[in-house]
Amino acid sequence: MIFTTALLAALVASVAAEKKERTFAVLRHYGNGPLTTCRADPIVSPGTASAHVHTVMGASNFGLNVTGESLRQSECTTALPKADMSAYWFPTLFFKDPKDGKLEQVPFYYMNVYYFFEPTNDKIQAFPLGLKMVSGDAMLRSPPPGAAYGKGQNYDPSKGPVTPATITCPRPNFNPPSWPKDSDGSMAGIKTNQDGEGWGFPFADCDAYASPLRTDVHFPSCYNPKAGLDDFRNNMAFPTDAGNGKQDCPEGWIHTPHIFFETYWNTHGLVDRFKDLVGKESPFVFANGDATGFSVHGDFVSGWDEKALQQIIDNCNAGHAGMHTCPGLIGGVNDESKSCKIECPVKETIDGKLDKLPGNNPIVGWKYGKGGSGSSSGNDLAVDASSSAPTSVTNVIKQAVTTSQAQTTTVMATTTVQSTTTVYISAVGAKPTGSATDGKALGEFKYAGCYKDASDRVLSGVIRPNLGRVNNTVCVSHCSSKGFSVAGTEYGGECYCGNELSQVEKLDESKCSMTCEGDDADKCGGDWALSVYSKSGKISARDVHEESRHRRHVHNHYMHHRRTPAGRFRR
Ligand SMILES: *[C@@H]1O[C@H](CO)[C@@H](O)[C@H](O)[C@H]1NC(C)=O
Ligand SMILES: *[C@@H]1O[C@H](CO)[C@@H](O)[C@H](O)[C@H]1NC(C)=O
Repeated sequence: MIFTTALLAALVASVAAEKKERTFAVLRHYGNGPLTTCRADPIVSPGTASAHVHTVMGASNFGLNVTGESLRQSECTTALPKADMSAYWFPTLFFKDPKDGKLEQVPFYYMNVYYFFEPTNDKIQAFPLGLKMVSGDAMLRSPPPGAAYGKGQNYDPSKGPVTPATITCPRPNFNPPSWPKDSDGSMAGIKTNQDGEGWGFPFADCDAYASPLRTDVHFPSCYNPKAGLDDFRNNMAFPTDAGNGKQDCPEGWIHTPHIFFETYWNTHGLVDRFKDLVGKESPFVFANGDATGFSVHGDFVSGWDEKALQQIIDNCNAGHAGMHTCPGLIGGVNDESKSCKIECPVKETIDGKLDKLPGNNPIVGWKYGKGGSGSSSGNDLAVDASSSAPTSVTNVIKQAVTTSQAQTTTVMATTTVQSTTTVYISAVGAKPTGSATDGKALGEFKYAGCYKDASDRVLSGVIRPNLGRVNNTVCVSHCSSKGFSVAGTEYGGECYCGNELSQVEKLDESKCSMTCEGDDADKCGGDWALSVYSKSGKISARDVHEESRHRRHVHNHYMHHRRTPAGRFRR
């Protein structure tokens, strides 16, 4: 028998792959403050100012556009290991002064990035250069799916919705508690099964020694090379239980380190100015206008020297001592007495007392309500979909839709939909007048409007076929070729097909304003919003037979939680 080199390498890899214990090393940063604070997000909004301000750590070639190669050329990085030229960013935290209502940045304290190398049957491999990923959901103003009072976090999609992003409020003791008992998230945050941790901002002063309020984001660690480095909506997934305490990635995917952002904000330093609110409400707002704190999220682009990271994965278990102490660290360690800083390419005032958040994001959530539609251009992030004025017909359905959105409860979804009578909405009649897209036709299909999607998918005949860079033409022709009469695009690059919407809620056109990945000149839906095309130019909602509805739900639940890539978890 002849062994090829490749086969031998594969054999060696499979023998060496099994990993029984978690090892880890914390990446620490040095210097005076972050790399920059800036309305830039080269993953979600490349080439342009992003909708909200981010605090940025990492390599100095961060900017409106980044690639792995451009990051590798950086002059410096805020990370202690010189081999790490990655970029790490997250929404800046603001304080809304109860005295005068003005906004100012909460001083950034510091950031840790945990690199966990988890037990698995896979071989853990370095991030490929230029990998882009996002975790957490910038759009959330209501509790994330899977959050419930006293419940633990979940990172395994086969066990229910993944909850990757929380807030930690370190205190010497938890009496009174930091989140109200039995909170459902509608007017306050929700405690997990740990006293110090919750979804949403706490109502306490986080005053542990040298540990004020902290945002926490876990990233998925399975990379799908077929999706590619840039397709941050689809290229990553959380690994699933493989027995014996191990978690594996789907076949053909690459198992990378599990990274975890911890970002501390010096909220306690401001306590004299909000002490009257302690125990009652939170004075904090994320840069995107979120006053609830449910929208904790983070972004990462790998600029690692792959060899250096692989050496760490294979050899280092430095833990809290820090990655810069790893034996044999390739590239060495930065001089801690220096700082690495850059100017923000977007010129605007973000320091001092402000009347409005940079980007003019409306403050939304809890006592501020669900928000109006008066946001500025470029900000489709902070406005809750349900705020658009519903027509009388959608109002009737809305109650059913709202309850059925409790998507983890199959029974609830089934019974509410059962009671929904057959409703036909003429898209022409329901459409706001003067929409630029009125009457737009694509082949046999006509534009029928912007409609709300739900987590079990209102168009479920075909869910996100792999069509490359999606535009409306590509989606419509795919759905048409599969015999469907309705096609919808969502979130800039997703395609769905069906013959009817399982729930109908018309949205304002402004909710479908994300540019198509495959056509700069057209819009492909928005966050939980579908740009819908149909053969008739009309949309129908039918009463769905309980059994088929149930089956479809279970199917989608499976699709959603087992197989779909982790881009999903941010929405
Ligand atoms: C940045 O990326 C955007 C979107 O991909 C592109 O249109 C623009 O030309 C890029 N800008 C630069 C300076 O590379
Ligand atoms: C839509 O995408 C297809 C396939 O990539 C492409 O051929 C077509 O030109 C695109 N349409 C527009 C209007 O950009």
